[in-house]
Amino acid sequence: MTNLLIKDLKHTSPSDVVYNVEGWVRTKRDSKSVCFLEINDGTCLKGLQAVADKNVINADVLNKVSTGCSVLCTGKLVSSEGVGQDVELLLQKLEVIGLSPDSYPLQKKHHTLEYLREIAHLRARTNTIGATARIRSSASYAIHSFFQKNGFYYVNTPEITSSDAEGAGEMFQVTTLDLNNIPKTEDNNVDYSKDFFGKKAYLTVSGQLEGETYALALKNIYTFGPTFRAENSNTKRHLAEFWHIEPEMAFCTLEGDMDVAERFLKYVFKHVLENNEEDMDFFNKFVEPGVKEQIRHVSETPFGHITYTDAIKELEKKVDKFEFKPYWGCDIQTEHERFLAEEVFKGPVIVTDYPKEIKAFYMKVNDDDKTVRGMDVLVPRLGEIIGGSEREYRLDVLVKRLKDLNLKEEDYWWYLDLRRYGSVPHAGFGLGFERLIQYMTGMQNIRDVIPYPRAVGQAEF
Ligand code: 4AD
Ligand code: MG
Repeated sequence: MTNLLIKDLKHTSPSDVVYNVEGWVRTKRDSKSVCFLEINDGTCLKGLQAVADKNVINADVLNKVSTGCSVLCTGKLVSSEGVGQDVELLLQKLEVIGLSPDSYPLQKKHHTLEYLREIAHLRARTNTIGATARIRSSASYAIHSFFQKNGFYYVNTPEITSSDAEGAGEMFQVTTLDLNNIPKTEDNNVDYSKDFFGKKAYLTVSGQLEGETYALALKNIYTFGPTFRAENSNTKRHLAEFWHIEPEMAFCTLEGDMDVAERFLKYVFKHVLENNEEDMDFFNKFVEPGVKEQIRHVSETPFGHITYTDAIKELEKKVDKFEFKPYWGCDIQTEHERFLAEEVFKGPVIVTDYPKEIKAFYMKVNDDDKTVRGMDVLVPRLGEIIGGSEREYRLDVLVKRLKDLNLKEEDYWWYLDLRRYGSVPHAGFGLGFERLIQYMTGMQNIRDVIPYPRAVGQAEF
């Protein structure tokens, strides 16, 4: 007797081998003499049809079978006469392992994604969320394999930190102080010397700064872990906790950075198209028609390039289209990003050289002293998917930037040391993993591509 996964069994030829198949019943269809069960073990989208001959399988057992129950099926694979599958499992024995009464919330009918979010502990058993989970896993593998093959070392940067990597003040504070009895200093401020870390601490928004310290030791590194943002943005593309991939390369300028970003995205797209065909077909058919062809096309076509200044000129030509009127110096809004990718470039585009006022302190200042060597990769349907830059590696310029932005030099003492000892041009970027999954699957809301979304007012499960 052999135990196999349903994804493999579906492609196995009929024979006299007796298989044990474990899974959950998705549907049960009764006729006079036989009962058809669709068994799914989550290893693929479409399950295996199991056929129970009522002369062989006891009616008491069949009566216990219902949508959602878990079963152990024993039988041989036979050619299927029905449409939709090559083989089916002719049952010799059926054992119900866990019952699933009528109160099971995932009865066979259409459920909205909003409803499924309320039962996030069960929703991975649906086609959409199951397919998303398999694609997440496959894309994670591709991400590690791209970097590992290209000489990048995987570095684990801290989740708890005392530095604001983006200088944007959007951090969640971490404390063990008793909020009902906060220790105070003589001048009536919170006495953080009594807190767990002896100073104010936060959940990190990015592993970049610590990543840079390792790039300036190991040359090419990447991080891949959760980061946190206390942004009050209730949108379809923002999470309070998201998985962040951040490569960092020493002896590298913005050109090299953009080149890696493009090759990296294309590699992941190709991997998913090749390895997740059934799931991608599902998204292509039911979620975002044409998404497969889009991703395939993008994986073979050079990305567009434009400077921020020229991008603003393009946007100004179509000023009536936008809710927020674009002007030089404004932060590019999602509607603008989408317009550039969807209408102007009809595919991914990399915008570079943003005004320094709207970008983080660490980006290298251009000779014009107005713009910085930052880049954002924008894609259709979503807008920004990657943000990155060449880093300011000149000590004096960086110190001045911190001062101009009212950031305290002493908070970044170790980061500045990188510019004191063996400084080199270096660059990197950050990709939000959930944005990547959204783009590849066509899923509308970022909360449906992460198992347990955290957002304003949402931390259930
Ligand atoms: O553009 P961001 O803020 O850049 C950084 O954090 C840099 N430290 C990256 C680097 O150069 N190493 O964020 C990078 C990416 C965005 O392009 C987006 O894909 C994702 O992170 N992101 C979010 N994803 C989901 N929810 C949020 N709230 C996100 N904020 C950023
Ligand atoms: Mg950004």
